[in-house]
Amino acid sequence: MRTRNYRLIVLLSFYLMFTGCSKKEEIPSPREKATEKKELRWTIGMSQCNLGEPWRVQMNHDIRQEAEKHPEIRVIFKDAQNDSLRQRAQIEEFINAGVDLIIVSPKEAAPLTPPVAAAYDKGIPVIVLDRRVLGEEYTCFIGADNKRIGKAAGNWIVRRLGGKGNVVELKGLMTSTPGQDRHTGFREGIKGSSIDIIFEADMKWLEPEARNEMESALARFKKIDLVYAHNDPGAHGAYLAAKAAGREKGIIFVGIDGLPQEGQIYVKQGILEASFEYPTGGKEAIRTALDILNGKSVPKEITLPSRVFTGKNIDKGGEWLKEEAD
Ligand code: FRU
Repeated sequence: MRTRNYRLIVLLSFYLMFTGCSKKEEIPSPREKATEKKELRWTIGMSQCNLGEPWRVQMNHDIRQEAEKHPEIRVIFKDAQNDSLRQRAQIEEFINAGVDLIIVSPKEAAPLTPPVAAAYDKGIPVIVLDRRVLGEEYTCFIGADNKRIGKAAGNWIVRRLGGKGNVVELKGLMTSTPGQDRHTGFREGIKGSSIDIIFEADMKWLEPEARNEMESALARFKKIDLVYAHNDPGAHGAYLAAKAAGREKGIIFVGIDGLPQEGQIYVKQGILEASFEYPTGGKEAIRTALDILNGKSVPKEITLPSRVFTGKNIDKGGEWLKEEAD
């Protein structure tokens, strides 16, 4: 009996010697326990510049869909209703509420810069999505390269028009960075061609504004070959104006965004000849937020790829943009 007990004790001590330590290390810390049980750990504040446009509804949807896979985070959405002052107040509210991270898709660069910098300086990570703020006081910027998209649109238009023609440019809000970049990129893309920009106006990203501006362009110019609008709602507004004037068949319409339920449908219907994709970055924002919250380092800038959809390639899922020589 004694020898049996002795043997058992020896076996047990060997067992503990070899497995005991690693067993101990496997005991999860309270933090790990929370993750294992998928308990809520972090609150993210998301300020969306408006929800009046399909592209922004899609962005919130993409954020929500990705966030739902991670019970350890909760996202509080706020809609700034296209008002920079309201959006500033939302960021300040998030700071005061002590959220763990802020995602902002700003309306305009200058007014949103101070509250974003204030959050960042207080140690709250900030992901800036799609439209930029000024300076460097934020954690990470995520968006597609608007200059590149504008340039690709310019190159495409030069090819489509055989190097010459009368073009109307309907610009996005010029106090927002995508409007500025889609404009400069486009001008670079048509450089050296004989394309004339006969009319340009800021339609502020809005379909009704684009329609109004296009009515003026139609009244002033007999020959309009193509409309380049900085987004698909703008291109569609211009199309509606041309249609009302009975002139839509003689004009080519090009837009940007390429949403499956918007621009891609317009291309399929032949309303737009081309739409350049502008991904929302919603999924990437949540993935980056999780990296930041888990203490991983993230790049200062994440550039998303873009495709062009045309009647020819739409059924094959579009074509990725490649760098074109000047
Ligand atoms: C929506 C929108 C999009 C455009 C983006 C640019 O508000 O106008 O159509 O691609 O913003 O920031």
